Formats: sequence, C-alpha cells, structure tokens
Amino acid sequence: MEFSIKQGNPEKQKSACVVVGVYEGGKLSKAAQALDKACKHTLSDLIAQGDMSGKSASTLLLHKLPGIAAERVLLVGLGKAGEQSAKFRIEILQALFKALHGTPAKEASLYLAEEANGNDADWLLRQAVFVASGQAFRSDSLKSKPAEAAKLKHINFATLGKPPASLKEAVARSAATARGMALAKALGNLPGNICTPSYLAAQALALAKAHKKIKTTVLDENDMRKLGMGALLAVTRGSEQPAKLITLEYSGADKKQKPVVLVGKGITFDSGGISLKPGTEMDEMKYDMCGAAGVLGTLQAIAEMELGLNVVGVIPSAENLPSGKAAKPGDIVTSMSGQSIEILNTDAEGRLVLCDALTYAAKFKPDTVIDLATLTGACVIALGHVASGLFSNDDKLAADLLAAGAETHDRAWQLPLWDDYQPLLDSNFADMQNIGGRAGGTITAACFLSRFTKDYRWAHLDIAGTAWLSGKEKGGTGRPVPLLTQYLINRSTK
Ligand code: BES
Ligand code: MN
Ligand code: ZN
Repeated sequence: MEFSIKQGNPEKQKSACVVVGVYEGGKLSKAAQALDKACKHTLSDLIAQGDMSGKSASTLLLHKLPGIAAERVLLVGLGKAGEQSAKFRIEILQALFKALHGTPAKEASLYLAEEANGNDADWLLRQAVFVASGQAFRSDSLKSKPAEAAKLKHINFATLGKPPASLKEAVARSAATARGMALAKALGNLPGNICTPSYLAAQALALAKAHKKIKTTVLDENDMRKLGMGALLAVTRGSEQPAKLITLEYSGADKKQKPVVLVGKGITFDSGGISLKPGTEMDEMKYDMCGAAGVLGTLQAIAEMELGLNVVGVIPSAENLPSGKAAKPGDIVTSMSGQSIEILNTDAEGRLVLCDALTYAAKFKPDTVIDLATLTGACVIALGHVASGLFSNDDKLAADLLAAGAETHDRAWQLPLWDDYQPLLDSNFADMQNIGGRAGGTITAACFLSRFTKDYRWAHLDIAGTAWLSGKEKGGTGRPVPLLTQYLINRSTK
C-alpha cells in the first residue's frame, strides 16, 4: 500500500473514490461542502432524506454524481463534532477502509486532515495508515490458493490547503512503520515448524542484505557456551533445533553515539518444557517469538526511514520442549552474569533466555536497553489485550515510552518494580529462583530481569496480551513496533 499527501479540490479529483466526512445532525465537513456545491446539493438532499445520519462510523457509497470528477463518493459519519475519542476515531477509520476495500477502487482520495486540527491531524493520518495497511494484510503464504489481494493500492490524503511538511513526514514514517508491523505479523503467524531459531537468524541476515546500515551476526550454541550463557542454554537443551543469539547493528549515527539496544524474546515455540503446558490453545505459543519479531520489524522501519540513531537488536532464540535432555524443575544453572538460578518451573523460560541476552547487551555500551517479551500470562490477566505492561528503572525513560505509545495508539501501562517484590525470588539453594509464585506474576518476572540490568538505563515491555489476537481473528498485531519506532523517532529529533 502506498500513501501520498496532496492539495486539491474535492470536486476536481479524478479519483476512483473521494472520501469526505459528515457530522451527526447532517453538518458537512469542509470538503463535503465543496462537493455538495458542485453536485447541486445532492449530498444535502440525501442527508435531509435520512440516507446518511452522520452517526459515528456509518458510511454511504455514491456513484457518478453530476459535477464531480471522481467515479465514487464515500460519505463517512464522523459522529458529534468535538466528541471523537481515540476509540471512536479508530472505529471510523476501520469502517471507512472496510467500505473502500469493498469497492473495486485501486486508489482513493481521503479528506481527513482538515477535520482534525494541528497535532491531531498527525495522529489521525498515522492511524489511517495503520488501519488501511492492516486491512490489506493477508496471512495466506501457506494456503494452496492464496486469498485475493487487496485491490486498493494507493491512498492519497488530500487537503484543501497546502499540507504542512510535518504531515508529509508523518505519513511517510507511518508507512514505513506499517511495513515493519507487517513483517512482525507475518513472522508471528508462521508456525513453529517453519519459524525456528535458524529461520529468525536467516531473516535477520536478509535484513542486513537489504539495508547497508544493518550488520547482522549470529552466534551458535558453542559461542554461547564460551560466553557462559548457562540460562539460555538450559532452555534449548530439550530441543533438536539449535539455539541462536542474533545481533543486528543499525548504524545511523556517528560511531561515538551510544546505541539504544532492543532485546526481543525469540522462543519459536513454548511448550513449557518438562513443566508442560495444558493442551488448550498451546498452538498460540508459536507467537512466543513476537518480541523478536518486534525487534526485526522496528529495525526494518527505522532503516527505511534512515533515522539518525544507532540501534542494536539482540534476539535470544530457542525452542522450549521436553525431552530426556531437557532442563528439569530443581535444576540450578549459572547465567552469564555469574548469578546462579534455580529453575523451579521450566515454563518460565523467557526470563532465562532474556537474562543472558541482557547481560550480553552491556557489551554495546548502551545508552538505553529496552526488552520486549511475551513474558507472562499474568500480564494478560492484569491488562487484558489493550495495554502492554511497562517496567523501568528510569522514570524519564518510562514516561517517554508511555508517550510514544499514546502517540501511536500502541499503548503501554506502567507497573511497579519495587524492591518489596524481590524477596519472592529468594531460593534456598541458588542466588535466585526463576518464579515468584502466582501473586504479582508479571511484576516478579520483571524483578527477575532487573537483577541483570543494573548497569544501564532499562525498560521492559511485557507484550503477552498485545502481540497477537486469539479466536476468530487469530493473528499477530505488529505491536509494539509502532510504540518503539515512535520512541526512536522522538529520540532522533531531540
Ligand atoms: N510465553 C509464556 C507467557 C504467555 C502465556 C504469554 C500465555 C501469553 C499467553 C511464558 O513463557 C510462560 O509460560 N510464563 C509462565 C510463567 C509462570 C510459569 C511463572 C506463565 O505466565 O504462566
Ligand atoms: Mn513459558
Ligand atoms: Zn514463553
């Protein structure tokens, strides 16, 4: 899907479809007024007859109106002026693009920016790009007959006045972000028998091939053994698939500039190991590499934007399976940091691969480290499928991430990392145990990670509830690529 932004008169657009808004009560948006005048008030007449109420997210498709150059006009209900919450606006966009995708139009001109003022226009167009791209996304690479591709290929955000340069840039960057999300979704949706640690490594190498500023290195289990990564290696012991530690270095700025390191959990299938999970919905544990997918999607997006920053992606990737060689409850291993860990539950494997990757991250002398992980079922209980859980040892970093999430509607919510929770990880036999019990399960998981991130500014995003959807709409969401990309954009412009 391509996006552009251009000034032009609505009635003169030689487009397959011009899209304009109507408010509840029948008040026409500025662009709709111009169309109404050109077609001798056909729009006002239709509204007076009750064909279009302007109710939020309602649509009415019209064909070949006299005096209007476009083949179609799509009226979209905007609801009550001034009463458009984020949720409403997204529902409006979803309805609008559903109606557009239902026509044979290959391109369309949308007059949206004028109806949102200032910064709001940025927000609205950004969301429009995400919704349009999301609806065009297909997960059919493994079907013998691929689904029909979306016909709609080009969206022009049309404006009545001259579009500000900032809006152009926002649209271009959102399009790159949407492509990063599509990569993350596609990888998440792939099954565990295809998307293995080696497959993720190949994807990371392909990104380096496509972008000159990315350098990828892949460490194998022998390398990890030499580094002393006993925690990561304990997770992969039961699997026939070799574990990989993947590093992508994006150099967009001077070598001296300290990088932001993104660490993504890359468990390509999480059966729980010897602490085997129950069978219901176990297939969804193919999504346990969505942190890794988020790192790859974000790096692709910022490389396309050529952001002036240094960013490193670190992906510890393994498969968590039971076998005669697998780690057992009670096993004690030594992490790369030197701290010993009693593995009381082999299903708490994410923190085991992450702790070694977080220790490894220090080697890049990072300014900031952010890990993203489908870490705990408890996070889904706490925050549902709306917000990602956020933890940080730095309040400014937490505030910046929350803001980037709000700007892109890829929201996070901060949870406490207080010392009071730390004793729950005490072990009689090792420096710590890998679980803290049922109470505060998301927090104790974050507390575990915090023991490996003392030397740098750090944040942790638990994306267990937000990285994919279940049920009929099963599929990756591409989150938290928008949040992270926006955070990096904001950093690069400061
Ligand atoms: N990958 C899971 C977390 C998860 C579960 C994400 C369900 C999304 C949906 C993680 O490795 C895990 O199994 N965590 C355990 C931790 C527990 C054993 C302390 C969990 O959440 O049950
Ligand atoms: Mn697990
Ligand atoms: Zn897991």
